[in-house]
Amino acid sequence: MTEFSDKQVVYSTALGSQVCGDSLELLAQMADESVDLIVTSPPFALLRAKKYGNEDQADYIAWLAKFGEAAHRVLKPTGSLVIDLGGAYVKGRPTRSLYQYRVLLKFVDDLGYHLAEEFFWYNPSKLPSPIEWVNKQRIRVKDAVNTVWWLSKTERPKADVNQVLVPYSARMNKLLENPAAFYDAKARPSEHDISMKFGRDNGGAIPTNLLTIPNTDSNSGYLRTARALDIRSHPARFPEGLPEFFIKFLTEPGDLVVDIFAGSNTTGMVAERLGRRWLGFELDREYAALSILRFVSDRPLDVVRTLYDLAQEKWIDLTPSPAPSAAVAGARTTSGRRSRTKKAVVEAAVEVMAGLPVKKRARRT
Ligand SMILES: C[S@@+](CC[C@H](N)C(=O)[O-])C[C@H]1O[C@@H](n2cnc3c(N)ncnc32)[C@H](O)[C@@H]1O
Repeated sequence: MTEFSDKQVVYSTALGSQVCGDSLELLAQMADESVDLIVTSPPFALLRAKKYGNEDQADYIAWLAKFGEAAHRVLKPTGSLVIDLGGAYVKGRPTRSLYQYRVLLKFVDDLGYHLAEEFFWYNPSKLPSPIEWVNKQRIRVKDAVNTVWWLSKTERPKADVNQVLVPYSARMNKLLENPAAFYDAKARPSEHDISMKFGRDNGGAIPTNLLTIPNTDSNSGYLRTARALDIRSHPARFPEGLPEFFIKFLTEPGDLVVDIFAGSNTTGMVAERLGRRWLGFELDREYAALSILRFVSDRPLDVVRTLYDLAQEKWIDLTPSPAPSAAVAGARTTSGRRSRTKKAVVEAAVEVMAGLPVKKRARRT
């Protein structure tokens, strides 16, 4: 169990906490082998034009490897690290950076991870880029696939495909209606033995490692509320479907899921919805505070605004409480006193938030 300080925790919910700080330091506060899954999307490798375009990449890989090492220590032997890395061009050239593959080699060769399986996230709504090669010169196609490395601490991490089955194809549904009429049990030239077992309904098909997930969440509560409050949302969010797939696949309810580059806390919100404990680590206090919108966007705007403002300075406790009148924990300073300047708004927020809870609790996850 880890306890973070009042200053570090931005908000807590029933199942998790968004924590502000450098994840290298926050990971160092955590016990060995305490985490079931880390799912994350690190900041993008900034590539400057250099002779071979690789020197900055080398810095990036060394930088990211420090997080990989710290993550390895806190993962349980059954744990996984899922890392989403977008592709990139070498700056100013129509050639691709190999940084995701260098990251993979570094993590497996030097840090002791296993590559459980490589995944590819296909985002059909991705815009063409870079404009120069794709739109103007028309010498490259749209890059719409991110690499997502599923790394594990041991060769047999916790995983259950039954939790992520996808709908059967129309053809398979026909087969299931009348297996005998549809299939003749026989050996195929490929030596795959097709038997009546194929006619068994397993509740869905096994998914492939190509995950098709559009990144179009313009109607999410987070974005809608940020727009309504005229606050700039986090610019590099991944879609809920991405952490959702891996949380369902690689963890069970009650397990601990951590995002070490949490941004708008997509991972934490999905983990909460799926009944997993979670921690989000985010360096930027404003991003961390803004991510509270993911948990309170169904509340009146003035309440949300107040919570967002407070979260930039104080810990907000959204933990369900049987005595909601107690106070919004975020209304307290770390010493337990209320902020005088915000007192009136805070009290208004407390009243409206009768269902949204508030007793002080240990920030343990
Ligand atoms: C690509 S974004 C992650 C977005 C996230 N997946 C989402 O859906 O909102 C990467 C985040 O990592 C944060 N970050 C960068 N360095 C960090 C560090 N050392 N510790 C914690 N967070 C860091 C950045 O501020 C940024 O918000």
